[in-house]
Amino acid sequence: MNPAALLRRLIREPAIRARAVNLPRQVHGLASEMGIPVRRLWLDLYATVRAEGLVHPDECLMLMRFAAQSTGPIVEIGSYRGRSTIALARGSRHGAGNLVFAIDPHAAFTGVLGKTFGPADRVAFMRNLLRAKVAEQVSLVNLDSRAAARGWDASIGLLFIDGDHAYPRVRADFDAWSPFLTEQSMVCLDDSTVPGVGPEQLVDELLESGWRELQRTGKITALQPAAA
Ligand SMILES: C[S@@+](CC[C@H](N)C(=O)[O-])C[C@H]1O[C@@H](n2cnc3c(N)ncnc32)[C@H](O)[C@@H]1O
Repeated sequence: MNPAALLRRLIREPAIRARAVNLPRQVHGLASEMGIPVRRLWLDLYATVRAEGLVHPDECLMLMRFAAQSTGPIVEIGSYRGRSTIALARGSRHGAGNLVFAIDPHAAFTGVLGKTFGPADRVAFMRNLLRAKVAEQVSLVNLDSRAAARGWDASIGLLFIDGDHAYPRVRADFDAWSPFLTEQSMVCLDDSTVPGVGPEQLVDELLESGWRELQRTGKITALQPAAA
């Protein structure tokens, strides 16, 4: 199917239609930056957005961009049904091909914004990863993020935080994983523009302590540590 037809299929979905206006320009720009054919990026985006998820197409492109630039393993906290995981995995293929570690216990949980999650998400996650043909590039760590951090021992290229948005929990996620960040690492936080939730406060704190903002798209902010 050609890219225009894929776009038409994408924008039939109401949640996506509202944000699709600038997509062609963004896809062309990113494909050119990555040095890949535009059609290939459309296919990546289509494979990503077919999976249920809470990140929008423009935000998926942003995740693909930073995954392609990642200099080490990619860690995602909060995978739900796999949309952002697929964006990271498909983006990583346009760079060094780093593995994506998808950390989510898939246990009963109600987020601060009211959405409920649970074990059925694990089934959908696996189905979506197989359909998007990224299962070999993703390692599901079916644990709480802080428990997973206790067993981790490598530097991280990209950390995407999209788990529990209560401030003490998002701060604890960051603190558990920050020992594995280097000056080259990038950190993306979802829902960082939603007033009053934990990611917004954490982004403010990081900026105040000298971290650099790399990009802000939709609800996601990407940051990098201040050079030592
Ligand atoms: C907002 S959703 C993630 C959305 C996902 N990134 C997407 O692309 O649609 C939040 C997820 O965080 C997970 N979660 C909650 N607490 C967690 C924790 N302590 N560690 C890891 N994941 C957690 C939930 O199970 C849920 O699937």
